[in-house]
Amino acid sequence: MSMNKEKETRDHRTIIEPFKIKMVEPLPILERGERERILKDAGFNLFLLAAKNVTFDFLTDSGTTAMSAAQWGAMMIADESYAGSQSFERFERVVRGITGYKNVIPTHQGRAAERLMFGALVKPGMKIPSNNHFDTTRANIEQLGGQAVDLVIAEGKDPANLHPFKGNIDLEKLEDFCEKNKGSIPMGMMTITNNTGGGQPVSLENIRGAAAIYKKYGIPFILDVCRFAENSYFIKIREKGQSERSARDIAVETFSYADGCMMSAKKDGLSNIGGFIALKADTWVSELRNALILTEGFPTYGGLAARDLEALAVGLEEALDERYLEYRIAVSRYMGAGLNQLGIPTVQPAGGHAVYVDAKTFLPHIPPAQFPGQALACEMYLAEGIRACEIGSVMFGKNASMELVRLAFPRRVYTQSHFDYILEGMGEIAKRKQELRGMRMVYEPPFLRHFTARFEPIS
Ligand code: F0G
Repeated sequence: MSMNKEKETRDHRTIIEPFKIKMVEPLPILERGERERILKDAGFNLFLLAAKNVTFDFLTDSGTTAMSAAQWGAMMIADESYAGSQSFERFERVVRGITGYKNVIPTHQGRAAERLMFGALVKPGMKIPSNNHFDTTRANIEQLGGQAVDLVIAEGKDPANLHPFKGNIDLEKLEDFCEKNKGSIPMGMMTITNNTGGGQPVSLENIRGAAAIYKKYGIPFILDVCRFAENSYFIKIREKGQSERSARDIAVETFSYADGCMMSAKKDGLSNIGGFIALKADTWVSELRNALILTEGFPTYGGLAARDLEALAVGLEEALDERYLEYRIAVSRYMGAGLNQLGIPTVQPAGGHAVYVDAKTFLPHIPPAQFPGQALACEMYLAEGIRACEIGSVMFGKNASMELVRLAFPRRVYTQSHFDYILEGMGEIAKRKQELRGMRMVYEPPFLRHFTARFEPIS
């Protein structure tokens, strides 16, 4: 994949997929006519499509990773004992090695870790600051009567801004917030990378700054680390003085500033399921383990099969391999730059796991009330078989500030020729964008409407 000006550790050569392929799945390739019928039946809602009718599935990078031969191999020797399994010991050793945290509590995925953690700490009226809370994080806090507060820097909210660390938290605002809310902040957070802000990284300097503020106010600092490896690599290539260090070394330092973390390991765990809480100190640990036993499972499996723990133990290490990370970050950069060259605007700079097309700017003839993001996502499906996700007026209604279409890239799944093919098709869409029409919502469910709403194109 070609590179842009961002300084890289290697020379001018194409960045290749650093793997060869041993096991393949057929790619469903349909005719436009078939897709027209299928999309109409699905009410023009891409969430309602059967995956067998999707050629390129960019709905999420979560749980969609292709696992390595080493992971599949490790799964074969899993120890499925209910208690004290050797697979847990291996998983625990890897998590301890990367995070430096002694207490490791496995969960079936990220939101289970959130529910346990907030369940132990959040009481009605309490507030939890972060750069940006992810949807499930916010929902789990609010469900307990707490308030999830976003304090990302101003540059992080401006889609055109080229700040290298748009995921950073505003340290001044954070300090002010902690001062004003003394006694009602049970924990402080930071999401790396910042998914809600476009997969944007957070700098080491900023994490250090936030840690100092949380420490000053006696607030435990918990990281949401589902894309910690991507964040570490961004630090390596973008932050002053970090280029000679390994991504692993940077990750270890990142974790050292916090008191613990929650992780959806379906992302940088390079696995299809899994998560964990890890904590430096013993505070909360027995309470969390008791709650875990109640709803997730015994503390040495936490709702996962031992084979999942094995896949994670290997995957967490593979995610820190710099050949992999170089390729991983090149995917979104390549797609972002490719789309921009075709005159398709995206949130700048490209994030780690995803590229966000700015549909409002791209399709100025479709007003937000006619869902330009949905119109574009539907056309991308009809023309190319791509499934992407609208993040705009369909998802947020009148609260939407942007009309985006997210292409989140599964890890190690698609190759450069797939991406080139998609860019060719996107170029065709760009040429006839005037022909695209807005959409009308004909069925609206009472909550989380984007999952099941139905639409019709406006003729
Ligand atoms: N935190 C962040 C930053 C996330 O991006 C996600 C999931 C979670 C927590 C929750 O983890 O899904 O394992 O329960 N993000 C996915 C996405 C769903 O598509 O961005 P989970």
